[in-house]
Amino acid sequence: METNQNRVNFGSKIGAILAAAGSAVGLGNIWRFPYETGNHGGAAFILIYLLCIVVLGLPIMMAEFAIGRHSRANTAGAYKVLAPGTPWRGVGYMGVLAGFLILSYYSVVAGWTLEYTWQAVGNGFAGMNAEGYTQFFADFSANPWRSLLWMLVFMLMTHWVIIKGVKKGIEKSAKIMMPVLFILILVLAVCSVMLPGAGAGLEFLLKPDFSKVTPDVFLGAMGQAFFSLSLGLGCLSTYASYFGKDTNLSKTALSVGLIDTLVAITAGLIIFPAAFSVGVSPDAGPSFLFITLPNVFQMAFGSVPFLAYIFSVMFYVLLALAAFTSTISMHEVVTAFVHEDWKLSRTKAAWCVTIFCTLLGVFSALSFGVLADMKIFGLTFFDFLDTLTSKVMLPLGGMLISVFAGWYLDRRIVWEEISNNGSLKVPFFKLYIFILKFVAPIAIGFIFLNELGLW
Ligand code: PHE
Repeated sequence: METNQNRVNFGSKIGAILAAAGSAVGLGNIWRFPYETGNHGGAAFILIYLLCIVVLGLPIMMAEFAIGRHSRANTAGAYKVLAPGTPWRGVGYMGVLAGFLILSYYSVVAGWTLEYTWQAVGNGFAGMNAEGYTQFFADFSANPWRSLLWMLVFMLMTHWVIIKGVKKGIEKSAKIMMPVLFILILVLAVCSVMLPGAGAGLEFLLKPDFSKVTPDVFLGAMGQAFFSLSLGLGCLSTYASYFGKDTNLSKTALSVGLIDTLVAITAGLIIFPAAFSVGVSPDAGPSFLFITLPNVFQMAFGSVPFLAYIFSVMFYVLLALAAFTSTISMHEVVTAFVHEDWKLSRTKAAWCVTIFCTLLGVFSALSFGVLADMKIFGLTFFDFLDTLTSKVMLPLGGMLISVFAGWYLDRRIVWEEISNNGSLKVPFFKLYIFILKFVAPIAIGFIFLNELGLW
C-alpha cells in the first residue's frame, strides 16, 4: 500500500491539539476519574496517575502519533504501510473493531446525556426527591424507545460531523466545542467550590492518603490513564495521519495529556464539593451521574432555584459535549478504515459505520431493560462490551503498539517523526525508546494480567 501524501490535513496545530484532546476528554474524565481518585487516596492517586500519564501514556501516545503521521493511513492501513505482509496489521484490525464496539455502547450513555440535558432545560428535575430521581433513571433507562431514540440522535449528530470531513467536521467542531467545554467546567467548578461545606469534598479529592495505595491502585491508575487518553485502538494514530509535517508530536502529546488531566481534576472539583456540601457520599458508575448528581444539584443550589436550574443545564451540556468529541473520534477510526480499506466513498463508509453501530448499540441500550437477563460470561451486553474493550482490547493494543514502535519499526522512522526530520532537538530519545521497548510493555502486561485476574 502506498503512503498517501495528498491526504487531507488538519488546518492548524491548535486544531490538531483540540481534536486529539476532544477524543481524550470524555465521560471517563467526568465520572470515573473523580471517583477513582476519591476512593484511592486523593492526591496520592493523582500523583500515581500523573506518573502513569508521563511514563506510559505520553510515550505510547507519541508512538501512535508517529505511526499515524508516517503512514498517513487509517490504523489498519498504517501497519500495511509500515510492516507490509506481516501479522502486525492485526493490531490495526483489532483497533478498528475496538473503536466500533466502544462507539456502540458509549453512544448509549452519550444518549442519556441528551435526555438529561433535555430534562434539565425543561426544568424537569425541580422539586423531585431522592426516590424520584432513582425512579426517573430506572424508568428512563429501561424504556426501550426513549433510550434508543436518544442513542440514535447522538449517533446521527456524530455522523453529521464525520461526513463534513476532517477539517470542516472534526477540526471545526473541536475548535468550537472544546473552548465551550473549558468555560463550562471552570464556571461549574468555581460555583461548586464556593458552596458552604465544600471543604470536605475538597479534602476527599485532594488530601493524600498513602495508606490507600496498594498495587491494585497502581494498576487501576494505569487502566484509567489508558481509557482516558483514548490509547490502544489507533484513535490517536488515525488523527495523527491528518497532522501537518510541522506538528511537534511530543508537544502535542504533552498538551493532550495536560488538558485531559486538568479536565479530570476539575471535574472532581465540581462533583465532590457539591456532593459533600449536602452530605451525599459519592459512589461509582453511571448511577452516580444520572441519579445522585441531579439530586445533589437541586439540594445544593435549591435555595436559589434559578442557580440549581442553570447549574444542572450546564453540567449535562458539559457531559454531552465531552461525550460528543469522543464519539466523533471513535467513528473516525472506523470510517477512515472502511473508506480507505474497502474503497467506499467517505459518506458511504460513514453510513455503514453509523448503521451497523446503531444496530449493535440497540443490544447495549436494551440491556438496561428488556434484555437485562441476556448474559454473556455473567455480564449484561453493555457490561460485556465495556469489559472486553477497556480491560482487554485497549491494554493489549497499547502493549502491541509500544512493542511495534520500540522493537519492529526502524529507529530512523521513529526519530524522523519525533524530531520532525531533525529540525527539533530530542534529548530524551534514548530514554523514550527504552520505555517503548521495556517499561511500557511490561507495565501494561501487568495491568492486563491483573484485570483478567491472572496475577
Ligand atoms: N477517552 C474517552 C473518555 O475518557 C474514551 C475513549 C476511549 C475515546 C477510546 C476514544 C477511544 O471518555
